[in-house]
This record gives sequence, C-alpha cells and structure tokens, in this order.
Amino acid sequence: MTLHKPQIVTLGGLNIDLVVRVPVIPKPGETITGHSFATFPGGKGANQTVALARLGAQVCMIGRVGADSFGETLLQNLRQEGVRTDFIKIDDQRATGVALITVEDSGQNNISVAPGANMAVSAEEVAAAFSALAEVDMLVMPLETPMEAILTAARLAREHGARVALNPAPAQPLPPELLQWVDIIIPNEFEAAALTHIETSDEAGARQAALQLHEWTGGSVTLTLGERGALLLDAAQSPPQFTFLPAFRVTAVDTTAAGDAFVAGLAVGLSEGMSLTEAAQLGSAAGAISVTRHGAQPSLPKRSEVEAFIQSRSNPGV
Ligand code: RIB
Repeated sequence: MTLHKPQIVTLGGLNIDLVVRVPVIPKPGETITGHSFATFPGGKGANQTVALARLGAQVCMIGRVGADSFGETLLQNLRQEGVRTDFIKIDDQRATGVALITVEDSGQNNISVAPGANMAVSAEEVAAAFSALAEVDMLVMPLETPMEAILTAARLAREHGARVALNPAPAQPLPPELLQWVDIIIPNEFEAAALTHIETSDEAGARQAALQLHEWTGGSVTLTLGERGALLLDAAQSPPQFTFLPAFRVTAVDTTAAGDAFVAGLAVGLSEGMSLTEAAQLGSAAGAISVTRHGAQPSLPKRSEVEAFIQSRSNPGV
C-alpha cells in the first residue's frame, strides 16, 4: 500500500445543477407541479473531484468554467475542498455548464446538460497541466469535455506512468485509440450497452459486455448495475476473474452523483494499492451514502463516514 496521499488528476465537466423535486418524473409533453427547487455544485468531473478529495486523494482538476457567478461558485467550492484549480480555465466567451435535473420521490432522476465552457477545454490546456505535474498516480475522467482533450490526457497520463480510469458518461462512441490507454473502465449498465451494443439487463449480457470492454482495453472493468450492485472483471488476475459485488441496501432520496461517488471510491482504493474488489467496496459504500442525501456535491461522503458505514454493515449489531 502507498503511504502517501494518492495524487490524482481529473478532467471533466463542472456544472451548476438546477434541481426540481417532483412526485414522479413527467412524461414528454406533461407539466407537473413539483415540491421544491434548489441549486447545487455538480458536473460529473467536479463531483468525482470533490469525492476523491473527501476520500483522501490530493486532486488537481483540469476543466473550464465561464466568467460568471456559477463558475466562481464552482471554483470556490473546489478550493474549499483542497483541490488544485489553477488548470481550470475561466472562459470569457462561454457560460458555465448548467444541468437541469428532475428528482422524483423514489430518488431517481433525469438530467439535461447545457455544457457551455466544458466543451471548450483544449488539448493544450491538458498538456500544460501535465507538464506542470511531477507526480501523478491516476487520471480519472468522465466524458464531458472534447475527445481531443480526453485523448491527450490519457496519453500523457500513461507517459507519466499513471493509471487511467475512464467513466464513459454520458455515453458516446469511443475511439479505439482511447480504449488502448484505459486501465480501468467504469460504465453503468446503460453506458456498457451503448458502447458494446450488448443488452446488459441480465447477468449473462452484463458479463458479455464486460468481456468485450476488457478485450478492447486490456484492462479491468467495473460495470455498475444500480441498486443490484456491480460486476467486476479483474484484469490483474490471470485469466481475468469475475466478481459480483451486491449493493448496500439503503433508502434513496436522490441518486444524483451516486455513480461519481462510486468512481471516486474505486479510484482512491486502487491508487492506495487495494484489490479491485476492495476498492469497489469503498466505491459502493460511498455511492450508497450519497443516495441517502440531497444534491450532487453536498451528498458526497468523507473517508471517515465511508469507513464507519462499511464497519457498521459488516458488524450489523454495532
Ligand atoms: O453525475 C451527476 C452529474 O451529472 C450532475 O451533477 C450533473 O451536473 C451532470 O453532469
């Protein structure tokens, strides 16, 4: 196990989430009266960054925000978490990303994003960050920035001897060039199905999709299956081994950012030298706690909370 804090670079989106709580998610064309409205700092990239920092990593984020109050709020929030933000550019032409989120009483959501400045991150900005960083253990990325920036980050991370963790969300086709640099891919069942064109709703399909992703990347696969748990395919074992990790049972109020919490827990655990199963357990617990709380970044747990949660679930009497 490493004794130092994992040094992690993130590249991804920063959004302000505008959230309306409703009894049920409206159908197309339907208007529904909601319960409440709130704004939260969000964006998959920023959520994963905050979750990584709360779980014990030293994080440097690469991204872009607009020169507006939303951008300032997001930057201040990251700084308060101890995140290095000097490679988040302030764009005076484009607005900060915004996500319109509807959360229903069951905790499920739907999300529409106007990416704004996020989709202007350049390969040069990514290269400037990597040339300033002496030590990088891992790169963690969702897909909310231009593919050229993502490709550059993956290539430079590998040149730094760092591992590349890719969360292929929101789903989009991925170039083979990117896949060859990925050490661990963390899709949910819908993203895995979109990438592989294999139906993942049953266990056989999920296994087949995971094998396809392993074949393309040569790396490990963690396929998250919502409240069912996660299917792991560990490339560190020869031949690669499947493990099914059941989810912790909790009462969900808001599932926003649960996937981000999972990705962060997994990345911190792997960077600390844990096995894939141990690291996924950390991610699963972080995700389970996050769904019991409202909002994206406010819901993300600290390391001490995650460890206490795992302890309480392994000793139910405590
Ligand atoms: O993963 C959740 C995030 O997706 C939200 O915070 C929203 O901003 C979108 O990017």
